[in-house]
Amino acid sequence: MGLLPMLLLLLWPPPTRTRCPDFCSCKPDGALSCPDAGPGFTRLSLTYLPVKVIPSQAFRGLSDVLIIEISQSDSLERMEANAFDSLLNLSEILIQNTKNLVYIGPGAFTNLPRLKYLSICNTGIQKLPDVTKIFSAEFNFILEICDNLHITTIPGNAFQGMNNESATLKLYGNGFEEIQSHAFNGTTLISLDLKENKNLRKMHNDALRGATGPNVLDISSTKLEALPSYGLESVQVLIATSSYSLKKLPPREKFVSLLEATLTYPSHCCAFINLPTKDQNISLSIFENFSKQCESTARKPNNETLLTSWIPYHDLKLHMCKAEFISL
Ligand SMILES: *[C@@H]1O[C@H](CO)[C@@H](O)[C@H](O)[C@H]1NC(C)=O
Ligand SMILES: *[C@@H]1O[C@H](CO)[C@@H](O)[C@H](O)[C@H]1NC(C)=O
Ligand SMILES: *[C@@H]1O[C@H](CO)[C@@H](O)[C@H](O)[C@H]1NC(C)=O
Ligand SMILES: *[C@@H]1O[C@H](CO)[C@@H](O)[C@H](O)[C@H]1NC(C)=O
Ligand SMILES: *[C@@H]1O[C@H](CO)[C@@H](O)[C@H](O)[C@H]1NC(C)=O
Ligand SMILES: *[C@@H]1O[C@H](CO)[C@@H](O)[C@H](O)[C@H]1NC(C)=O
Repeated sequence: MGLLPMLLLLLWPPPTRTRCPDFCSCKPDGALSCPDAGPGFTRLSLTYLPVKVIPSQAFRGLSDVLIIEISQSDSLERMEANAFDSLLNLSEILIQNTKNLVYIGPGAFTNLPRLKYLSICNTGIQKLPDVTKIFSAEFNFILEICDNLHITTIPGNAFQGMNNESATLKLYGNGFEEIQSHAFNGTTLISLDLKENKNLRKMHNDALRGATGPNVLDISSTKLEALPSYGLESVQVLIATSSYSLKKLPPREKFVSLLEATLTYPSHCCAFINLPTKDQNISLSIFENFSKQCESTARKPNNETLLTSWIPYHDLKLHMCKAEFISL
């Protein structure tokens, strides 16, 4: 066999794992185009795509599609502006395990009024994707940005225009180092999940300025050394397990809505209770044990001890503290 036929054999057929739906065109190393799938086509699942680019208007004409999923596609490198544009029925976009996807153009997600769920996980992108032109009107919009190790910053106004109702932000496992001032400006947050952003050290004191909420804040397994002192008024549930750098909590008065706290250090827990005075009734026996522990810590003060005189707060559940506290 000559060299040329052998080369052709090696190159052809293309790697069997690449796939292209019948109604799409996937030019190898080119751009994807899925102009029309016919009426009633509701879920477009694109895996092992051979293309490099999702161009502008790639899905034009898929007016009935509810879900577009792009995953396991190592060839994919770029997603251009207006890639997802005016898909008026589209409810979910999932982009996952596309490790060579390094660029998502500004306005890649534009005018998607029914969008409820956008997930971008395990890609190579270096900037937080632009979600500010989505203009979803759905209640409890969920944005999931996870395992994108090359995104280092959440800039100001990053989620402005994403939706006009409440939202849940699941932003975990990324390369974030910093959250800038007004990052969440213009949002109504049910939950803000920042867990497992292992390099996250700095959250600007005004990061939550202009946001309503969040009701739930999770900063577990981050390197945050402090929480912003502004914007904690709505936090009902604070989760901060394995937050070993968090040596200091904002004053108790900042957490006017707090009902439940899961914390790392015993000293964190002490910050949330008032050492009972003799004439006070402590309704929960757990508080008595906390108090004992905090008193004993107070007697041997070290740099981690953060005892202050807090307003007693009998509704506060500190059950998660208890385990670590008691085991000390
Ligand atoms: C949304 O889907 C419905 C039914 O699947 C269809 O009748 C309608 O035309 C679609 N809406 C738009 C804006 O394309
Ligand atoms: C969000 O936008 C939709 C459509 O424009 C509108 O019907 C709805 O009232 C808006 N919601 C809020 C909270 O402004
Ligand atoms: C916050 O958002 C509002 C609009 O919602 C805008 O007018 C204002 O300039 C933003 N603030 C900053 C500091 O970016
Ligand atoms: C303390 O609790 C007891 C029994 O529940 C009650 O009779 C008493 O009035 C309480 N004292 C104060 C100061 O609340
Ligand atoms: C408080 O501590 C005592 C002794 O360590 C223990 O028996 C009791 O169960 C604890 N109470 C609570 C509510 O954890
Ligand atoms: C507290 O910190 C200071 C400097 O940060 C250090 O010199 C001192 O030894 C520490 N004290 C304790 C009890 O750890």
